[in-house]
Parts: sequence; structure tokens; C-alpha cells
Amino acid sequence: MTHFPPWPAPCLGVCYYPEHWPAARWAQDARDMAALGLRVVRLGEFAWSRLEPSPGQWDWAWFDKAIETLAAEGLRLVLGTPTATPPKWLVDRLPQILAVDAQGRPRRFGSRRHYDFSSPEYLQEARRVTQAVAARYGQHPAVVAWQTDNEYGCHDTVQSFSESAVRRFREWLRQRHGDIDALNAAWGTAFWGQTYRSFDEIDAPVGTVTEAHPAHRLDWRRFASDEVVRFNRAQVDLIRAHSPGRAVLHNTMLFFAEFDHYRLAQDLDLVGWDSYPLGALENFWFDAVTKARWLQTGHPDFAAFHHDLYRGMSRLPFWVMEQQPGPVNWGHWNPAPAAGMVRLWTWEALAHGADVVSYFRWRQLPFGQEQCHAGLHTPDGTLDTGGREAAEVARELGQVDLESVQAAPVALLLDYESLWSIEIQPQGASEHGLRRCFEAYSALRSLGLDVDIAGPETSLAAARLIVLPAQAIVGEALASALLRAVQRGARVVLYPRAGSRTGDLQTPPALPPGPLQQLIDLRVLGVESLRPGVSRPVALPWGMGYVEQWQERVEPGRRVEVEASDAQGRAVVLRSGHVTYLAGVLDAASQRQLLAQRAREAGLGPLALPDGLRLRRRGSQVFAFNYDAQLHTVPGPEVRWQLGGAEVPPHGVAIGLLAEPGGKDAPLNATNHA
Ligand code: GAL
Repeated sequence: MTHFPPWPAPCLGVCYYPEHWPAARWAQDARDMAALGLRVVRLGEFAWSRLEPSPGQWDWAWFDKAIETLAAEGLRLVLGTPTATPPKWLVDRLPQILAVDAQGRPRRFGSRRHYDFSSPEYLQEARRVTQAVAARYGQHPAVVAWQTDNEYGCHDTVQSFSESAVRRFREWLRQRHGDIDALNAAWGTAFWGQTYRSFDEIDAPVGTVTEAHPAHRLDWRRFASDEVVRFNRAQVDLIRAHSPGRAVLHNTMLFFAEFDHYRLAQDLDLVGWDSYPLGALENFWFDAVTKARWLQTGHPDFAAFHHDLYRGMSRLPFWVMEQQPGPVNWGHWNPAPAAGMVRLWTWEALAHGADVVSYFRWRQLPFGQEQCHAGLHTPDGTLDTGGREAAEVARELGQVDLESVQAAPVALLLDYESLWSIEIQPQGASEHGLRRCFEAYSALRSLGLDVDIAGPETSLAAARLIVLPAQAIVGEALASALLRAVQRGARVVLYPRAGSRTGDLQTPPALPPGPLQQLIDLRVLGVESLRPGVSRPVALPWGMGYVEQWQERVEPGRRVEVEASDAQGRAVVLRSGHVTYLAGVLDAASQRQLLAQRAREAGLGPLALPDGLRLRRRGSQVFAFNYDAQLHTVPGPEVRWQLGGAEVPPHGVAIGLLAEPGGKDAPLNATNHA
């Protein structure tokens, strides 16, 4: 591979749509971008109908000019393949490219992402347009990267229930299971008389009278995920052929697990993601109190969680491809970020290792579905709050050299197949694997710990504390990797449901936690899910805590110590040496204390940070972020501040160097430990 990165890292960028504005305005826009301190511009990802207004008739002139205009200001370009928006004429010519919803209705033209990942005709068209764009601009000196499509799966588009999809699913099943008897055995179709005689008898798992077979659903989810990966790979291959030396990325989404991102990332040079902290807070699972508390800042761990997730799977440093600059248009409610938050979010991304943070979008539009979505400028071109804060970070970036990112001492496992299995078989309405991962992550981060999010195949070699909040499916390879980690001294914390299913969604023959019995000798005999409001007291070593949402009935083996039980004597916290098994979901405060305790055992220095203050390290550099509306002091005096100081104002940022030698894991303050 050629020398990377061909962009000035780290730097800021912006998403720009020349097709939305008169050509006479582009040159001024380009000058203003450069003057603001932006270095990278993404464009083109929705422009198909303007590049090919009629079948086979290409109109390159305007795009050539837009590219030259931006390049003339020294801006580096990321070109998007425009496959998220097949034009009207294409849909009319080939209606079979439309995705089909679970009720069998084709999705319609008039917004975006209306295509079917499984349509052979669409794949051919996507290749055709990718080839055309990549051939034309692939060698352009200003082009430094390519974005494939846009946000695969956005607007609930991973699964399509079309005939093409079902045809390909049958073939996929044949590849996976070999013969139909093997499928019947793997799925357990003996139940309710669902035995199949051939792969051709199998449909998509929708429209059934009551829930479809869980193993059928899991394979369907795997298949749909593989279709996304295959669609993407077709574009990547063409781009690489026509545009050597440029990075290929995709912009992934927030709190989104509909396809296996680790697999997609294997085909990319880097992973970008789209960060909308306020929309995410508003539209996801947070309760009303939490939504009110972080209304204008977003949840303090939201962005960090995604940075750590996508950094972990990105070969080159990850990017934030779209950063919220002001109110969005798609939340249930759309507040404005508090003053300082655009700057804070940008620095948070850089602290986590982002190479590029790119704002969405340059200027708010006076028309279209996103008319109410803020940009760095108002529709008349006035620099808006987000634009001013972006300029501030651009200036600050010139003052602070960033150290290199090192492996974090804590690893948190996040596995897409396990998340799907919990979604398919929740067994309790509160069960939500991704949420459980986020809450464990949030507990760790509120202790001032740096976390790497790992997939089931990611190396765990550097981790001293490994947390598995929702790892329902555990293969032998992962169990062995965990065993090796324990043997070299790492602490492992297994949450309920760990190892509770095989890859075919069966119960492990020796009962859960299945292969994890190599780490801790116990058997889960039964599980209960608990409705909201039910809390069962547990005597924890440091005081009273509660089990909520989920509790298991566990039989410990002889070498397993029961560290905490509930009032009825049921074991809740069990341990065997370095390995802890939680047989119930602990309330947030107890979860935090337990993780702090295990972190301390692992030689890490967990801190009791004030609510809203967060820390992150890059080498010996420490970043402090204050999401709160009141001033907070960073614990500990041993930092030589480069930007700001120990007293971090509301919504402020501070950056400094740890004075302690060797200090990347060194606690900031020995007297303030959690
Ligand atoms: C993203 C998308 C952008 C834009 C943005 C608005 O999901 O990639 O095209 O729609 O949201 O917040």
C-alpha cells in the first residue's frame, strides 16, 4: 500500500454539496473553508442524478469544476460513490432494484436508500456508477479518499424481503449448512414440525403467525449482514483498481448494529462514523431524567463509546465523517448544543485518535428534507456557532502536538451476532445487548479509565481488565483467548447471558456459560427477567446493591467463591481467581463499584470523577472534558497543562502532559480513588 495518510493529520473537514448551490458561489466557499482552517472536503455521495441525468449520459462538467475549485484552495477531497440515491429513471427502468419491506411492499422513490442489497441488477448498476466516477477522478491529485455509499442501513434498510433476497438466502444457507439435514439439526426444526426437505422450501422469517424460528432469524440476520459486506466489497475493488494510494472508508452510524461492522471494516482502509450526540440522546433508550440532564451536551459517553468502537476496527486512524454542528432535524426534539460543545465534541474525537473530524454540513439548506438541519453557516452564509467553534479548534490544533494513541488497559467486548441473538430472544422487555455494552462502558469511563472496544476476534493481549457485557455467543477461540489473558494476569468480568448460546442459538450441552466453564466452573440452571421497578437487594462486599432486569439461578463448582448473594441466598457475584461471573444485572452504582474494584486489582487507578467530567489519554497526554454546566477540577496536580488548566469550565476542554514518569496508566490523584 502507498504512503498514508495523504491528508494533514489530524485535521478538520466538512461535507459539501456543490449541487445545492450556484456554481458562482463555489470559489468563495472554497476560500472560506480554507480560511476557517478546514483541510478535507467530502462531496458527491448523493449526486448520481446530476452526474448521469439520463441513462448513459454523463454530465461531468459541473463536478469537474467543483473539484477544481476546491482543489485550487489546497483542500483534500473525499469522493462519495453516489449509490445511496439511485435516480428516478433507474428505478422506473428497473423497479426490481427497490428494497421490499417486511409486509412485502416495495420501498418507493422520493427520499434515499431505496435499493435492495440483494438485487443483481442494482449491484451491476452500483458497479457501473462506481466504475465511472472512480475512473474519472481516481488519479486526481486532490482526491485522498473515497467513501463507499452513505451510511449502510440508515432508515432501516439492511434487510429486504424481496424475491432476490430470498433466492440468495437459500444459496447462503446451502453454503453455510451443506445439506438440509444439517440445517434441520442446527436450527432445531423438530420444534413445531418445521422440518424442511430442501433449501428451496425456506423463506424469509417474516409473516409467520407468531414469532419465526429464532435460529432461522439469526441466520437471516447473518445473511443480510453479509449482503451489505458483499455490496461494499464490489465498490472497494473498483475504487482500488482505479484510485491507487487513496484510502477507502465508509461512514458508519451511531448505536447501530444491523450488520457486522468488523466484517465490513476488513475490506476498508479506515472506518468513519457520523456523530450526532444530541439526536442520539433524544432518540435512544435514555430515560427522561438523563435526557434532560444532558439535553444540550449529549451523554458524556456517547461519542467516546463510538470512537473506541470504530477505532478498534479501523486499520488507519478512524475519522468522524459527519460531526453535528448545531440542531439536527431528525430527533424527536432538536435542541441546540450548549456553547462550547461543538469544540468539545471535536476535541473528544481527536483525543480518541481521530485523524479527521468533518462537520456536517458547510451551510444550512433553504430547501429539502434537511432544511431544518444546522450547518457551520446559516442559509445566507453567516458563520454560525458551530462554524466559530470549528475555527477555534483549527487554531488550537496548531498549538498542541498530539501524542500517539496506545492500547487501552481495559477491553470491552462487543459482538454483533451476540447482539442479534439477544434481540431475537430477549426473554424480557428490558433486554438490550447494545445498551448493556454502553452502560458497562459508561461505568468504566466514569472511573477515568481508557477503554478499547474489541470484537470476538480482536487481540486481547494488552488488556488488564476484560469486560463482556453482552457476549451471548462464545466460540472456542474466544474462550481460549480469554483463558490465555487470565493466565497472564488479566481480570475478566462476565455479565449475565455470557456464553449462553452456541453459534446456532442452541443452549450449550453442559449449560451456560458453555465454553466459559473453562474460566469459571459453574452452571446456569435457569434465568428470570424482571420488570422495571423490581430491585432485589444484594449484600455486596462494600454495601447494599440491587439486582435489576435479569437474574440467573447458578450452581457453582467447588473452586468457585460466592462473593455476594441476594436475600434468598441466591449467588449473584461469583468468582474464580481472576474471573468474575455476574448472575444478575447490578444497579448502575453497584456495577461501577464492582468494576472499580476489579480495575484496582488489575493495577489500574480508577478515579471518582465528578459527574460530567471525563478523561482520556493519548500516550502521556491527558484530555479532560467537562460535559457539565458547572466548573469541575481535574483530580491531581501532576499535569503540565498545554491548553486550559485543572479547573475546567462548563462545557470546556483541557489538555496537558502527565508529569509522572511512565504515566499513561498512572492515576491522576492517589487520594481521589474510587
Ligand atoms: C446522516 C447522513 C447525512 C445527513 C445527516 C443529517 O445520517 O449520513 O446524509 O442526513 O445524517 O444529520
